[in-house]
Order: sequence, then structure tokens, then C-alpha cells
Amino acid sequence: MALSIIFARSENHCIGYQGLLPWNLPDEFASFNNITDGKAIIMGRRSYEDHNCALPNRLNIVVSRQLDYTLPAPIRCAANLTTALELAASHSSEYFIIGGVKLILAGLSQASRVVETIVHAEVNGDTFLPAIDFSHFKSEIIEHHQVDEHHASAFTVWQHTRT
Ligand SMILES: NC(=O)c1ccc[n+]([C@@H]2O[C@H](COP(=O)([O-])OP(=O)(O)OC[C@H]3O[C@@H](n4cnc5c(N)ncnc54)[C@H](OP(=O)(O)O)[C@@H]3O)[C@@H](O)[C@H]2O)c1
Repeated sequence: MALSIIFARSENHCIGYQGLLPWNLPDEFASFNNITDGKAIIMGRRSYEDHNCALPNRLNIVVSRQLDYTLPAPIRCAANLTTALELAASHSSEYFIIGGVKLILAGLSQASRVVETIVHAEVNGDTFLPAIDFSHFKSEIIEHHQVDEHHASAFTVWQHTRT
């Protein structure tokens, strides 16, 4: 069983604004898609409602305490993180928590690796992830993207692997 976590945050630790990502960085989204392709992904109900459909070629698991929350098949709903992790582990050897804040923090102690993209900008938003202590992880940069005509901010993708 291998839980991973993936998220992107700005320099000021913002991850969301009004239910959406606070940036438009196509190659960052492409990188997220490559890393999570074929895997199970676990997300909070608000993160799901950001896009309101299944991310393709992945088992999408949405966590909600609402007993009557309905989702179109094949998206799965889980009433808590434990159930979501069990479902995910039955699908793929590696599976991801992809947000939001509480699920990332709740999964951290069990995660084998964390893929953290730092968007090199100070961003206005309403959803912030506290700084995470990666002292028990080996950290390396796996991608760096400069500003270009499609990317208003540079970003760096860090991989933190538990030691
Ligand atoms: N930058 C990134 O990498 C990234 C990643 C993901 C999301 N985002 C952004 O972050 C924002 C959403 O994140 P968020 O932290 O506000 O919300 P969220 O975690 O996506 O959703 C919160 C909801 O998830 C459910 N939930 C969370 N933990 C649960 C648990 N342990 N057991 C049962 N249900 C649980 C609850 O749903 P109910 O209220 O239905 O019970 C809760 O209200 C959006 O703006 C999104 O675009 C950014």
C-alpha cells in the first residue's frame, strides 16, 4: 500500500480561490495528469466541485459526510478518509490524495511521497495550506517551468520521498 499526496501551492501557501485553482498553468495541470494517470485519486467534495466531473483514466473517489451526496458513476463516494483509502488501495498500488487542505494534512503521516508544486507567485485566495515539515523526507526537484506566453508564473515541482 503506497499513499502519495500531490498538490500545488503559491509562495504564500495559497491553493484555492472561490472553489477553483487560483492560477491557469496548463503545463502544471499536464504534470499532475501524468503523475496521477491510471491511479486512484481521493479528493474532498469541494475539490470535486471545482471540475464537477471525473478526471479521466483514474478512479475518482470523493470524500463527503453528506449521506445523500450523489455522484455520477463511475465516481465513488466515501464517507470518511479511511474508507476512501481502502477503496483506493484496492484499485492501484500507488494512490493519491489530491486535496483539499484537511485531507492533505490528515494523510500526511501515512504518505510515502508528496509531490509539491510551488507556484512562484504571491496569490490572492481563500484556501491556504499550512507550511509542511519535510524533514523526514528526501526532497528533490523533478521539474522546473519558466514563465512563458501560456504561463504567467514559473513553477517548480518537488518530490519528497519518506526516508
Ligand atoms: N492547488 C491544489 O493543489 C489544489 C488541490 C485541490 C483543491 N484545490 C482547491 O482547494 C479548494 C478546495 O479545498 P478545501 O480544502 O476548501 O475543500 P475540500 O477538502 O476539497 O472539500 C472539503 C469537503 O470535503 C469533505 N471532507 C473533507 N475531509 C473529510 C473527512 N475526513 N471525512 C468526510 N468528509 C470530508 C467535506 O465534504 P461535505 O461538506 O460534503 O461533508 C468537506 O466539506 C478549491 O478552491 C480547489 O480548487 C487546490
